[in-house]
Amino acid sequence: MLDCQSDKFSLPEEVSYLNCAYMSPLLKQVASKGEFQVQRKSIPYSIHVNDFYEPLQDLKQAFAQLINVDNPDRIAPIPAASYGMSTVANNVVMQPGFNIVVVEEQFPSNYYVWERLVMEKGGEIRVVKLPQTERVRGLAWTEAILEQIDEQTAVLALSHIHWADGTQFDLISLREKTKACDALLVIDGTQSVGALPFDVEAIQPDALICAGYKWLLGPYSTGLAYYGPYFDNGKPIEENWINRQESEDFKNLVNYQSNYKPFAHRYGVGEQSNFILVPMLEAAITQLLEWDVTQIQAYCKTLSTPAVEQLKAMGCQLEEETYRSGHLFGVRLPKQIDQAKLQQLFAAHQVFISFRGDAIRVSPHVYNNENDFQTFLQCFEQCMQPKFF
Ligand SMILES: Cc1ncc(COP(=O)(O)O)c(C=O)c1O
Repeated sequence: MLDCQSDKFSLPEEVSYLNCAYMSPLLKQVASKGEFQVQRKSIPYSIHVNDFYEPLQDLKQAFAQLINVDNPDRIAPIPAASYGMSTVANNVVMQPGFNIVVVEEQFPSNYYVWERLVMEKGGEIRVVKLPQTERVRGLAWTEAILEQIDEQTAVLALSHIHWADGTQFDLISLREKTKACDALLVIDGTQSVGALPFDVEAIQPDALICAGYKWLLGPYSTGLAYYGPYFDNGKPIEENWINRQESEDFKNLVNYQSNYKPFAHRYGVGEQSNFILVPMLEAAITQLLEWDVTQIQAYCKTLSTPAVEQLKAMGCQLEEETYRSGHLFGVRLPKQIDQAKLQQLFAAHQVFISFRGDAIRVSPHVYNNENDFQTFLQCFEQCMQPKFF
């Protein structure tokens, strides 16, 4: 079992930062790496040809290991989840009357792209709502999605867990159905990969897209995508020099090269060698591998479970154990709680969480400890007291 890792971060002790789903803090070692790399640009002759390739290859290797992919060349560096999703949408082969299945209120970077596709190509977008049910949300919602996938489905695009409240989808059964219907399965892993185990071999998605600044503990404007065999001969968003064969031979770049490097290389963003951000993200993922994602998840679950019980006792609604992740969960507030007051109390006690509709989203990591949850719960208790109404 992991111990609290707060000494590796610079969060002030009096702050209860339970909002990694908004943005992770940087590890101290990652921040130092970034500062060091910034300085190198002041002496540009210290940046060599191998700096364009090797740190990136190390990054791909680390991410491939994190998601259990054998071939790091299936990983492409992307600047945002929206970029990685656009690559997918640009390469989907559709039959007339096709449909795209998404879930209600999924993150915009995994919605607008599909909306545009159906507007341009004349298909249908099927937005699967959470069924009104007393049953386990993850189970009921997965069943509703399964019902919407049919022979006309070109893509099922969703995340492993819902970004707003952490509802977990059963990706194994969704993969079975999409395979049977010859539909692509495209996963946005931004709110899960790095904190909740994800195994590409086991789930076999066609693509997995992750922004880097949340659970990968990386800097903003970084991300990584896995593209499976379906995309091997596809068309990238842009044509850049580095994705072509033998781009390492700078002297020869004037002799244009018509072949791409293999697998997902063609989908890497221009200026992907980013000398500051790439080593930072690589250092962050190396730390995740060292901790082990299963251990990170176990730490978050163990830490949050007593709070979950107390919240339930106070009348809050939370997802049932098996479908609730330890690192990101929604708390639906009872009617008697005044949200504005709760918000004030959180601000006064430096508790950071996100409000989403009638629920709050709590997202701890290994830098959190019991005190953070105690402070969080005390705000609830104070808010419940009659003097507040
Ligand atoms: C599920 C999910 N995907 C993606 C993103 C970020 O998208 P982008 O990198 O396109 O800004 C977020 C940000 O909150 C998110 O919650």
